[in-house]
Amino acid sequence: MTAHKIKKIGVLTSGGDAPGLNAVIRAVVITASRQYDWEVIGINDGFEGLLDECKLTPLSIEEVTNILQVGGTILGTTNRRHFVFSKEHPEELADPTIADQAIQFCKDQGIDALVAIGGDGTLRISHELEKRGLPIVSVPKTIDNDLLGTDYTFGFDTALSTATSAIDKLRTTAESHNRVMVVEVMGRDTGWIALYAGIGSGAHVILIPEIPFTVEPILKQIEWRDGFKAKFTLVVVAEGAMPEGGEVLYRYGSEEGGMIRLGGIARWLVTQLEGKCNHDVREVVLGHLQRGGSPTATDRVLCTRFGAEAVHLIAQGRTGTMVSLRGTSIEATEVWKVVARQKSVPYNGDLVQTARGLGICLGD
Ligand code: F6P
Repeated sequence: MTAHKIKKIGVLTSGGDAPGLNAVIRAVVITASRQYDWEVIGINDGFEGLLDECKLTPLSIEEVTNILQVGGTILGTTNRRHFVFSKEHPEELADPTIADQAIQFCKDQGIDALVAIGGDGTLRISHELEKRGLPIVSVPKTIDNDLLGTDYTFGFDTALSTATSAIDKLRTTAESHNRVMVVEVMGRDTGWIALYAGIGSGAHVILIPEIPFTVEPILKQIEWRDGFKAKFTLVVVAEGAMPEGGEVLYRYGSEEGGMIRLGGIARWLVTQLEGKCNHDVREVVLGHLQRGGSPTATDRVLCTRFGAEAVHLIAQGRTGTMVSLRGTSIEATEVWKVVARQKSVPYNGDLVQTARGLGICLGD
């Protein structure tokens, strides 16, 4: 559909929240209203809102004033529910009639295209709906930074900043007591948050899912640091990190509503270090603190660029795409090329090499 035929677009936020969702919504609404004179409808509770007309909120520029800096999402969000994928055929929705209902709903409401702001699950749903005829542009959100096709996702910079300043605080107490402090950060199956926050806070050990670890090198690092005046060690561990030959730990031990919750590796590591070094060992799990609060300036700008570009792509008829950051430019990536895949930390990339060069123990 070309720009002059579009009258109304919808915007929704789906999956786990991340700082900057509101900044994207604001940019979408202002760009669509001012530059194209389109109406914008906010769809509440993610894709679920496409099944129920009570979940629609018209959004004018006035409604999005003052939300640029606010964490969370004014539209609410959900982690799947009706839009779950089949266990037998993971590329297909478990109930394909849900997609037809959603598309019919958009037709009935006069919604010509959607901006879907979310992570991997959102991309999968968007791809399904687009294939069936609903024009969608996606905006890559996740604190984990694990989406392919973009150098950075929004939310990552804020999560990283929160984790780094928390580790700075833990450093002073660890130093006072000569302790080993194990800090568990989020990131699912990738180590972007752990590696960036670990390097950014001067951690001495960083454990990421991409590099399975053993306990021996960690004990050696602690022992080496015992030769220093300040005999403390900061260990940053990604929730998805795992010991060589071991398995990822799950907070709930199993799947919950189709989503696996990671967690527990810091506690496990404490049990492996305690008694084997001359220090008290403590763990801190940063958890959802990393998802909360006001987005950093970098995230606010990225969100604003992403939101505006999503609207331009709809105007150009370039749907089925995800806005992305490549170097310093905002571009578009076709969703089918990146969906259901993950961007891991390159094993021999410059970040890992830099960490090694600084003598940071990566557990291998
Ligand atoms: O994907 C974002 C994320 O915060 C992950 O880092 C974490 O594993 C997961 O979501 C937590 O999910 P929930 O909020 O459902 O516990």
